Amino acid sequence: MLSCSVRLSRAESTPAVLGRQSTHLDILGERYATDEITNITPAIISKLSERLHTQHGHPLSTLRALIEGHYADYTHLSSFSPLVTPFKNFDELSFPKDHPGRSVTDSYYVNKDLMLRTHTSAHEVEVFGKGETKWLLTADVYRRDEIDGSHYPVFHQMEGARIFDATPTGMKEVEEDNERLSYHLARSNIVIEDVPHLAPTNPNQPEHNPLHSELVAKNLKLSLNALMLTLFGTSNRTEPLRVRWIEAYFPFTSPSFEVEVFFRGKWLEILGSGVVRQATLDTAKVPNKLGWAFGLGLERIAMILYSIPDIRLFWSKDERFLSQFQQGAITTFKPYSKYPSCFKDVSFWLPQEANLHENDFCDLIRDVTGDLVEDVKTVDRFVHPKTNRTSLCYRINYRSMDRSLSNEEVNEIQSLVVSRLKDAFGVEIR
Ligand code: DAH
Repeated sequence: MLSCSVRLSRAESTPAVLGRQSTHLDILGERYATDEITNITPAIISKLSERLHTQHGHPLSTLRALIEGHYADYTHLSSFSPLVTPFKNFDELSFPKDHPGRSVTDSYYVNKDLMLRTHTSAHEVEVFGKGETKWLLTADVYRRDEIDGSHYPVFHQMEGARIFDATPTGMKEVEEDNERLSYHLARSNIVIEDVPHLAPTNPNQPEHNPLHSELVAKNLKLSLNALMLTLFGTSNRTEPLRVRWIEAYFPFTSPSFEVEVFFRGKWLEILGSGVVRQATLDTAKVPNKLGWAFGLGLERIAMILYSIPDIRLFWSKDERFLSQFQQGAITTFKPYSKYPSCFKDVSFWLPQEANLHENDFCDLIRDVTGDLVEDVKTVDRFVHPKTNRTSLCYRINYRSMDRSLSNEEVNEIQSLVVSRLKDAFGVEIR
C-alpha cells in the first residue's frame, strides 16, 4: 500500500523527495521535523501561501463570493491553516483506520502527526465547536494525484453547514424554511430527479428521530437546489436546469448524497453532502442539535462557468489570463494561445522488489517541472518473471500554458527528471 517500499531499499530513511540531509521543513514561517513518511515537496510548499480564493478578481474568489452571497446570512470563513493533524482530517470525522485516503500515496504528510488537509470537512468539529450554526468555509485542499487537465494536487473547496435545535421549535424552523424554499423552487425553471431522503441503503442514524432526519435532509436538498439555480440557472436559458440527487456514502454523514447538474450536454458531479453524523456534533460539544453539511470543489465549477480548459490556468501569473477577470463577474475565458506539446518517454527498471506509485512519479514531475507538464500517461508496466523487477514506461506531455517550449529546453528538463528519478528511487534507465 505505501510507496515506502522503494525507500526501504535505501540506506537512509530521509524521504526521497527531500534529498538526503533534510531533517526539517520550513512551512508558513514555522519549522517542522520530518520523518520517514514526509512526502510534501517544495512545489507543494510554495502553493500554501497563495490562497487563490482570496485573490481579488481571481475566478475562484468571484465564485466564492457568489456562493457566499447566496448564503448571505451564514458566517463566512476563509482563513484556516492547511496544516492539520490526521486526527482532525480523518478520525474526528469517523474515517476508519484503514481508509485509503490516509495513505502516503494519497495525502501529503509533513510528518506522521501533521498533514495538509485533504478536504474542508476537516474543520467541521472546530467550527461547530465555536457555536456556529450556519456557516461556509473556503480553503485550499491537497491531494496527491495524477497529472492531467482536470487534476491538480491543490484545489479549493467550500464547506457549508446548517444545524438546528433537535426540539419541536427547531423542527418548526426547518419546516418553515422548507416551505419558503419549495415556494421559490416551484417558480423556477428547474427539473429535479430525487431519491428518497431516507432508505435502507442510505439510513437514518440511530440517534435521530427519522422524522427530524427527513426534514433536515429535505432542507439540505432544497437549499442546494436553490444554490444550483444561482450558479447554473442563467436568465437566458430556455431549457430548464436539470439537477439530480444520488445516494452516496461518506463516513461523516448519513444519509449522504451527491448532486449532479446537466450542463452543456453532460452530467457534472458538483458536490457531496448529507445529514451530519451525530458523533461529529458530539465531539464538537453541540449534542442537542442536528443538521446538514456539504462540500463542493470550486475549480470544477469555475472551469464550467468560465470555460477554463485546463486546471493549471488557475495558478497562472500571466496577465493574459489574470486581466480577463474582474471580481464579481463571470465571463467566458478567451484562450490566448495553445502552444505545442512535446512528448518525452522515460523507461526504467525499479530496484528489485520495489514498487513506485504513479502519484510518486507525478509529484517528482511537478517538483522538477512546475506546471510545464500537461499530462502523464503510463505506457507500459510489467514485472520480469525471473528477476521480479518492475519495468515502467511513462509518457510525459510537456506543454506550457504561456509560451512555446523549445526541444532543447524540454530535453534539459527531461534529463533533470531522469537524474531525480535515479536519485530518489534508485531506478535504472532502460
Ligand atoms: N469532504 C467530502 C469530499 O471532499 C465532501 C463532503 C461530503 C462534504 C459530504 C460534506 C459532506 O460536508 O456532508 O469528498
